[in-house]
Amino acid sequence: MKPVKKVVFPVAGLGTRMLPATKVLPKEMLPVVDKPIIQYALEEAAAAGCEEFIFVTGRGKAIIEDHFDRAVELFEALAAKNKDEQLEKMTADVPKAGQVLYTRQQEAKGLGHAVWCARRLIEDEVFAVVLVDDLIHSEVPCLAQMIEAQQRTGGNLVAVMEVAKEHTSRYGIVEPGAEEGRLVEVKSLVEKPDPAVAPSRYAVIGRYLLDAAVFDHLDRHEVGAGGEIQLTDAMQRLIGSQPFHGFRFEGQRYDCGDKLGYLEAIVATALARPDLGADFRAVLERYRD
Ligand code: G1P
Repeated sequence: MKPVKKVVFPVAGLGTRMLPATKVLPKEMLPVVDKPIIQYALEEAAAAGCEEFIFVTGRGKAIIEDHFDRAVELFEALAAKNKDEQLEKMTADVPKAGQVLYTRQQEAKGLGHAVWCARRLIEDEVFAVVLVDDLIHSEVPCLAQMIEAQQRTGGNLVAVMEVAKEHTSRYGIVEPGAEEGRLVEVKSLVEKPDPAVAPSRYAVIGRYLLDAAVFDHLDRHEVGAGGEIQLTDAMQRLIGSQPFHGFRFEGQRYDCGDKLGYLEAIVATALARPDLGADFRAVLERYRD
């Protein structure tokens, strides 16, 4: 089985749930403590062995490119002030030349369309898709857990977690078949079903390992739930012709696209930081009733 080397980050979304913060700042650049959300996602993918980082951006997202470039004046200033440790860290954080690729989704036509925009950058291979809004804390990075599992299953693998029944209409939902350990056979997928008709409470979370055959289906530009071209619908069409599993990842997921989820991500991340955790816990104590 060939290792997964390419990851697609669809980052063209407008981030309307976080206005006015996202009026000029891409939502992916909002900080969780002192690091933009998008950098956590890239670090997770790099830790899982990915070497090509493909961003599907849109208008107003150019500072994402700047963020993953060398900031020459800043680096010089840090060097002049002998801030060696910071400089080393900042330099190490910049992906190597040619590792980052950008393409634009010119119209907001849905997640399936965003992934389709990256089709020319993917060959006949399994690639990853990471939705940056989903920040995941785990012992082993979620994508690494998935790549390890996919080496055994082959085919397609999507991260799943159980959600409250009343929340099925927020997610792609799996109709599960046989379960073995963390693997759940996927019999079908449906995008944002009403709780009354949802086939389970297993929701797809923003980590996917997909066979490039998904582009054959995305090519059709079929419009689905919400009037958008849905990745879920293209994945559904792969079921039966290729292995398709859900993966109950180990870890805690925070939805940074939502105000409360974003706040929780910040609190959880700060508490987990060796340099901040204890002091921040003391600050939080002051807000107890
Ligand atoms: C997208 C997908 C959905 C998935 C969710 C995970 O929805 O369409 O299938 O469950 O991400 O976060 P969105 O959150 O973009 O509406």
